[in-house]
Order: sequence, then C-alpha cells, then structure tokens
Amino acid sequence: MQVFESIEQIRRARWADPTAGWGLVPTMGFLHEGHMSLVARAREENDRVAASIFVNPVQFNDAADLTSYPRDPERDLAMLEAAGTDLVWTPEPATVYPAGYQTYVDLETITRPLEGAGRSGHFRGVATVVSKLFNVFEPRRAYFGQKDAQQALTIQRMVADLNFNLTVEVCETVREPDGLALSSRNAKLSPEARVQAPCLYAGLASANAAFANGERDTQVLCSRVRDEVAASVIAELEYVSVAHPETLEELDVAIDGALVSVAAAFGDVRLIDNVVLRDPGGG
Ligand code: PAJ
Repeated sequence: MQVFESIEQIRRARWADPTAGWGLVPTMGFLHEGHMSLVARAREENDRVAASIFVNPVQFNDAADLTSYPRDPERDLAMLEAAGTDLVWTPEPATVYPAGYQTYVDLETITRPLEGAGRSGHFRGVATVVSKLFNVFEPRRAYFGQKDAQQALTIQRMVADLNFNLTVEVCETVREPDGLALSSRNAKLSPEARVQAPCLYAGLASANAAFANGERDTQVLCSRVRDEVAASVIAELEYVSVAHPETLEELDVAIDGALVSVAAAFGDVRLIDNVVLRDPGGG
C-alpha cells in the first residue's frame, strides 16, 4: 500500500498502470466497520482501490467540532492495508486549500433541508472536497454510505450535473448489534449516552414497521420516531423527516422508498440516522 501527502505523488501512482480501473473511498479517518464495508465493496468491484483520509475543514461549520474530531492515522492505515487498499492520500489542509483558494461547488435545493438546515456551508464543503478528490484520483467508481443519505444524494446529483465520468455506489448502513449506526462520533458518547443512542434506530424501525402495516400519514410516522427518542433522557431531538428519496421534499403521505431521517444530540455528540421505507406488500 502506498501512502502519499502530495497531489503529484498520488497522480503518479494512479497513472502507473493506465488501464487499471480505480475505486475510491473518501473518508475523514477514525475508520470503523462502516468505512471498511465501502473498502471491501470497492475491493470486489475494481482493479485498484484508493482511499483518502482528510478531515475537511471547509465542511465543518463549528470550529470546536473540527478540532475535537477524532483522529488515529496509524490505526486507519493499518486497517486500510489489511483490507487490500492500494493507494491512500493523507493531505495537509494547505495542500487541498492553498493560499488564494477560492473555488467552491454549491448545490441548490437538495442541500437545503435536513443536515443543510442546521449546518450552513456543510454540503458546499463536502461537494467541493469530493470534486477535488474526483479530479485527483479520476476513479471509475466512488463509494459512499447510506448512513449519510443526503450526502450520497448530493454527490450523485453533482456527478450528474457536472458530468464527472464515474459511477457513485451507495452502500448499506453498518450497525452495532443494538441498531446504533456506526459513526466516528460514537467514540465520544458518554457511557449513559451510548446506552440510550440506539433509540434513533428504534424510532426509525418503528416508523418502518408502521409503514409496512399500512400507515401512510407522515405525521404519525414521525411521532413513532419522536416517541422512541423521547424515551432517552439524554437525547435532544433536532429533526425528524419523511422526505422524497430523490428531491428530499417533505411528504405528507409516505411512499415506498421514502427517506425517514432523524438527528439528535446526546450531550455534545450529534448523531444522525435514516431508513428507507419499505412495504413488504409492495407499496
Ligand atoms: P466520513 O464521515 O469519514 O465517512 C466516510 C464514508 O463512510 C461516507 O460515505 C459515510 O457515509 C460512510 N459511512 C460512515 N458510517 C457508515 C456506516 N455506519 N455504514 C456505512 N457507511 C458509513 O462522510 C465523510 O466522511 C465526508 O463528508 C467525506 C465524504 C469524506 C468528504 O469529506
């Protein structure tokens, strides 16, 4: 596995075998089995696998959140190597955003609700850094997690709109046995908050069960999520949403494939999760 900081080194390694097809897994490090499921899928589907580890400052709207973001580069590299990664980019912020930098990628309506509502500039930062990663690596496929559903939609939209020559692959959310979605932020939960954090998935699963039983009123589905989150004394609910799976417009009447999203704070740790509504009866 080759690990480089500079763009020139990455480009040289990337083009050493010009006929190889590359799969790219962008990350901010502090890797867990959710990230590794993306690497495993990339390993299956491509000749070569690349990953990036970069805590992207421009997607953080809170300076404290950026400085406290967990990091463990040595462990990350050992995990990537064990998973058969060929090439890793670990740039410094000044390499990605040198002095005088002034170009950003901004998407419109899809980035406004949900995570975009409370985290202004977040998706502008994500779309910008992911564009740069696509230009540096020129991958054939790029891998993103359904855990960050709005992010995956944003990248898919950007790839279509800007004619990036690659396919976006979205991978299922990997969960702990109690349902909690794996996240780098879980490590920062207090022991009490860790016990209560599975309420997010419990609420989403309850909404999905109601949908499968024929409930279509999104107010009722949202209250299923709210009730579970209310059972946690630590959780402070930020939003619950039932939205169209492509436009993210809020729905009054739920449809098969609709995205149910939730965000809540557990002390100073903010967690998000989502499920896609599925009616086993077919709609
Ligand atoms: P990060 O939070 O490190 O996540 C990297 C990728 O792993 C994302 O595509 C995310 O959706 C996916 N992921 C995280 N938890 C997961 C889980 N439990 N199951 C499946 N996939 C999971 O998302 C980012 O970094 C950044 O915004 C980035 C895209 C790298 C741009 O800076």
